[in-house]
Amino acid sequence: MSGFGLAALALLNPQPGERILDLGCGEGALTAKLVEAGCTVVGVDGAAAMVEAARHRGLDVRLMDGQRLQFSAEFDAVFSNAALHWMPDPDAVIAGVRRALKPSGRFVAEFGGHGNVATIVEALRAVLARRGVEGGGSMPWYFPKPETYAAKLRAGGFAVENIALFPRPTPLPTDMAGWLDTFGESFFSQLPPRDRDDALAEVIERLRPSLYDHAGHWTADYVRLRFAAHLPRA
Ligand code: BEZ
Repeated sequence: MSGFGLAALALLNPQPGERILDLGCGEGALTAKLVEAGCTVVGVDGAAAMVEAARHRGLDVRLMDGQRLQFSAEFDAVFSNAALHWMPDPDAVIAGVRRALKPSGRFVAEFGGHGNVATIVEALRAVLARRGVEGGGSMPWYFPKPETYAAKLRAGGFAVENIALFPRPTPLPTDMAGWLDTFGESFFSQLPPRDRDDALAEVIERLRPSLYDHAGHWTADYVRLRFAAHLPRA
């Protein structure tokens, strides 16, 4: 696995015997690390394919929307990596995490923050605008500022120990076409199918000067928001 997410795991500081919820566990790479650390771990993900992949690793993973968590006062900590930006209702997420935690329980997460993939979104919007799509297509992600998310955590009953926004340029395992193919659907779907190939090529050319290097690699302009928070004692 890549090292991304390990710093958030270190911030969680999992202890053997703790019961931990991995919120948006994906294929379960970090869930497995928590199990290796001696924790009892439940993973949840909203995508059936991810749940299936994680179960293949032998993990206890359930298909569940992170905005409708179904747990009550049973976890010492809730952990989440690279998932909260897919959940457009942060207040529902925070309320569900609060319900899932025992008193003093910790909530530690890392996800896309304000400015995440801004260069890519700007190129997508410019290309759509040139084709008459005003408003730039619908933004499928939630990338908050630290002060906005901290206020939500506090309103949800958490004490915020630390929260930080930082750039984390991320080399792409494929190329920009692959990234846009996987994640750009909500933008390209605004166009008639016959225009999409041209639009994709134009987005890539707009991004080349800033995100493609001389060694032939693409890097996405990821920005991370990482925080640790906890509930008060009972
Ligand atoms: C991310 O920041 O991890 C991300 C953002 C948008 C699409 C895919 C991944």
